[in-house]
Amino acid sequence: MTGRRDHWETVWTTKSPEAVSWHQDDPAPSLAMIEAAGLRKDAAIVDVGGGASVLVDRLLERGHVHVAVLDVSGAALRVAAERLGPLGDDVHWIESDVTSWSPVPGLFDLWHDRAVLHFLTDPAEQAAYAAVLKRATGPGATVILATFAPDGPEKCSGLPVRRHDGATLSALLGPDFRLIEERRQAHVTPGGSTQNFAWCRFARV
Ligand SMILES: C[S@@+](CC[C@H](N)C(=O)[O-])C[C@H]1O[C@@H](n2cnc3c(N)ncnc32)[C@H](O)[C@@H]1O
Repeated sequence: MTGRRDHWETVWTTKSPEAVSWHQDDPAPSLAMIEAAGLRKDAAIVDVGGGASVLVDRLLERGHVHVAVLDVSGAALRVAAERLGPLGDDVHWIESDVTSWSPVPGLFDLWHDRAVLHFLTDPAEQAAYAAVLKRATGPGATVILATFAPDGPEKCSGLPVRRHDGATLSALLGPDFRLIEERRQAHVTPGGSTQNFAWCRFARV
């Protein structure tokens, strides 16, 4: 969708990555759930809508060797790649809208998404997202989804969001995904406001 790409290219070419509301210096909630999943260092990981997040830096530091970052904005990926320097050469950067991405079937052991799925407010787009997620992962894979919680903000980056919890995410993914862990987190934005997130970890059966 061109409008979506344009929106995010404008964000990532006009704002400082440290000033955007979703910025976090330390992706601790992601790392805690990834740690709990007990992945091997050679697990294939994709951070969907990774933007300029430092999660990829932390994963490389921890010895993960197959890390991909997907984003609809090439500008976002360039921010992350330039920050990493030569280390970024080991990352697979994918510029694509997740809803139209065509991953290698069953390739990924971990699908991670913080604050991307919630932008899909249209049920048809949510279904397209779930279909791509199912194509990308195989049995035993871990799926970590973080969205605004039911009492979280109604908008992000000026766009409306669909808020979720474990029940709505379970309904979206269907019976092949078992909800292992659900947490709430109060994210404090760089501007000092609080946003309630729902974090869910699923295992694909
Ligand atoms: C709120 S930011 C979150 C970034 C990152 N996950 C983090 O936690 O810092 C949303 C990101 O998703 C990307 N994005 C939005 N819609 C997308 C889509 N349909 N497909 C791929 N990326 C998308 C945006 O460019 C942006 O980088």
